[in-house]
Amino acid sequence: MTSVKTVHLSRTFKAKKKDGGGIVQALRDVSIEINKGEIFGVLGPNGAGKSTLIKILCTLLLPTEGKAYVAGYDVSRDYRKVQEKINMVSGGETSGYGLLTVRENLWMFSQMYNIPSKAAKENIDRLLKEFDLYEKRNERVRTLSTGMRQKMNMIRGFMTDPEIIFLDEPTLGLDVGASRIIRNFITEWIREHPERTVLLTTHYMAEAEELCDRIAIIDNGRVIALETPENLKKLVTTEFPFTMVATGVGHPERVRELVGNATWKENDEGALKFSMILEDESIIADLVSMIVEEKGKIIHITKREPTLEDVFIKLVGRGLD
Ligand SMILES: Nc1ncnc2c1ncn2[C@@H]1O[C@H](COP(=O)(O)OP(=O)(O)OP(=O)(O)O)[C@@H](O)[C@H]1O
Ligand SMILES: [Mg+2]
Repeated sequence: MTSVKTVHLSRTFKAKKKDGGGIVQALRDVSIEINKGEIFGVLGPNGAGKSTLIKILCTLLLPTEGKAYVAGYDVSRDYRKVQEKINMVSGGETSGYGLLTVRENLWMFSQMYNIPSKAAKENIDRLLKEFDLYEKRNERVRTLSTGMRQKMNMIRGFMTDPEIIFLDEPTLGLDVGASRIIRNFITEWIREHPERTVLLTTHYMAEAEELCDRIAIIDNGRVIALETPENLKKLVTTEFPFTMVATGVGHPERVRELVGNATWKENDEGALKFSMILEDESIIADLVSMIVEEKGKIIHITKREPTLEDVFIKLVGRGLD
């Protein structure tokens, strides 16, 4: 079941004077379909169009061309319907009143969202505990750290129990602990509510890889790849670079009989260091039994896995940072 769909979606802006004026094409011909139950990631460098896409889907911006549907509703026409189904959290947002406490702020939001009092109270306390923020519930928001503030924003977003939640860089600038809590919450939430949908943007490759079922890589307003993390990594290599260090191997040339491209040299400890590229990982088993037959001893075998970073560099022509 589709929960978000865009059809030839484009958006332009008048460039700011300080950027030299003219037209900025923030999104170009973006057609994507996101299913219920998915954690869908949008990965791209600064200025790629990630926030523009999220803002259109949240009805904060109109498309210049093309269509976008959220929960089956047209974001341009049925924006009120869309608004009932969704919520949005941006990293680094400073919502709420600094003079109010965490709980008072969340209570205020629950009233803006028309959540009945009893349910709101229960929800807020439960979420405060899940985000490990319960101890801070009576602290004024202006005294909170960035991580604590972002946890509060997340609680604000999730307390309406949205059908679809949009998270724009939810862990931007947070430490390992706060990021971990937020990521775990997101995966748990989808696990418990498989009919919901998460669309998130991120700069962090590891985050996209860990969380997302599918990832759209966007650059310069255009979707240049859309795949599962595993398939994205297959784009960079179908081969496996290996090194193997072994001692007591009498006939290293036998390794070359197994793997034509194997090379080796002796290291300082007198062990042999083999380098090879395998087209098929299953050959490792043969390699190991061959060394054992030779009465050799394998010190280690290392394989470098392709990373999303490799994919990104190959597709975009530069790294993310
Ligand atoms: N209101 C606006 N007026 C003019 N240009 C804008 C406006 N909003 C976005 N842009 C431009 O559109 C392009 C896409 O911006 P967007 O904020 O969507 O990128 P992003 O991928 O979210 O980047 P970041 O990683 O920095 O958050 C950029 O070139 C940006 O300068
Ligand atoms: Mg952005």
